[in-house]
Amino acid sequence: MAGELISAYELGDLTLKNRIVMAPMTRGRCGSSGVPGEMNATYYRQRAGAGLIITEGTFISPQANGWVGAPGIFSPQQVEGWKPVVDGVHDAGTPIFCQLWHCGRASHSTFQPGNQKPVAPSEIAINSDYIHTPNGKQPNETPRALTTEELPGIVEDYRLAARNAKAAGFDGVEIHGANGYLIDEFLQTKTNERSDQYGGSLENRFRFLKEIVEAVTSVFPSNRVGVRQSPNGVYNDMGSPDYRDTFLYVAEQLAKFDLGYLHVMDGLGFGFHELGEPVTLGDYRKVYPGTLMGNCGHTKDDGEQRIADGVAELIAFGRPFITNPDLPARFENGWPLADDPPQAIWYSPGPEGYIDQPAHSA
Ligand SMILES: Cc1cc2nc3c(=O)[nH]c(=O)nc-3n(C[C@H](O)[C@H](O)[C@H](O)COP(=O)(O)O)c2cc1C
Repeated sequence: MAGELISAYELGDLTLKNRIVMAPMTRGRCGSSGVPGEMNATYYRQRAGAGLIITEGTFISPQANGWVGAPGIFSPQQVEGWKPVVDGVHDAGTPIFCQLWHCGRASHSTFQPGNQKPVAPSEIAINSDYIHTPNGKQPNETPRALTTEELPGIVEDYRLAARNAKAAGFDGVEIHGANGYLIDEFLQTKTNERSDQYGGSLENRFRFLKEIVEAVTSVFPSNRVGVRQSPNGVYNDMGSPDYRDTFLYVAEQLAKFDLGYLHVMDGLGFGFHELGEPVTLGDYRKVYPGTLMGNCGHTKDDGEQRIADGVAELIAFGRPFITNPDLPARFENGWPLADDPPQAIWYSPGPEGYIDQPAHSA
């Protein structure tokens, strides 16, 4: 085993120069308009040694908003703002997917149109201390349950966002189905107590994601669409007793769509619900024959091991890309890695901790 990560990979009709993917990471540097600017283009261009870049979570609509300074892909200004980001990454011969995001209950009325309550499958609040809002830290609110009639409109927002992503030049999109945001809330029994056709059985809880996949693949070919899942995650107060059955069922269903990839946060490095044995990439492989992307706390060595074992084709790295903009070159040349980023720079607005992270000087 050696060199698996730096070998090329054919992702549908795209050739990735290596199997190192830059994981989606919110950095909160797009201001209140959600329009990316020059600084964001510089940041992504610096990291274009990756085989594939997945952008930070990007809002599909005003209602989807729940994070200060995160970008959107629903207004013409946002589409224009993304174009130089995409062009810069393409100049380095690297494809870039836009991560489509709806925060669901992990939002707050201060983000919402008309200061309405955030929306969710059911009226179940996040049980944690607070949420960061434009007005500072606030207690989490109990969300409003979406009506059955509202759901086609949100599916349509995903379709329009995918269309906008295409117009901005993105090679594809990743549907953010992880980390306790709206789609994950529909999938999991902890947050979905609906009695309509979107709640209850596995088939019903999967319906919302299925309709979104159908909508988005009407815009991009299916091999240009990925889906992200966090079967083991506790982030945003998630974790359901039937997690194993739920997520392996969803994977089995998604396999029918011939997607570009299924992105699984298999590692426990972003929080673990501890409700049983973690779902592994090996478990996924048994039900998902397509391209699997692993993520969470992986190192070069255990990433290579997963590829050598045949349980993943691609490995995404998050935090290492913040402080190592040239991460693939460091892996390839055996150069040392910089320390993990302190949380203080994750979301701080401005260039510090964002575009000032040095590449290795040989
Ligand atoms: C600063 C920061 C922002 C993140 N934002 C997102 C995001 O927008 N969308 C998402 O799916 N995951 C997000 N994540 C999770 C990462 O994609 C990744 O799963 C996590 O960092 C674990 O991988 P790592 O150990 O390689 O960093 C974020 C993580 C960090 C540290």
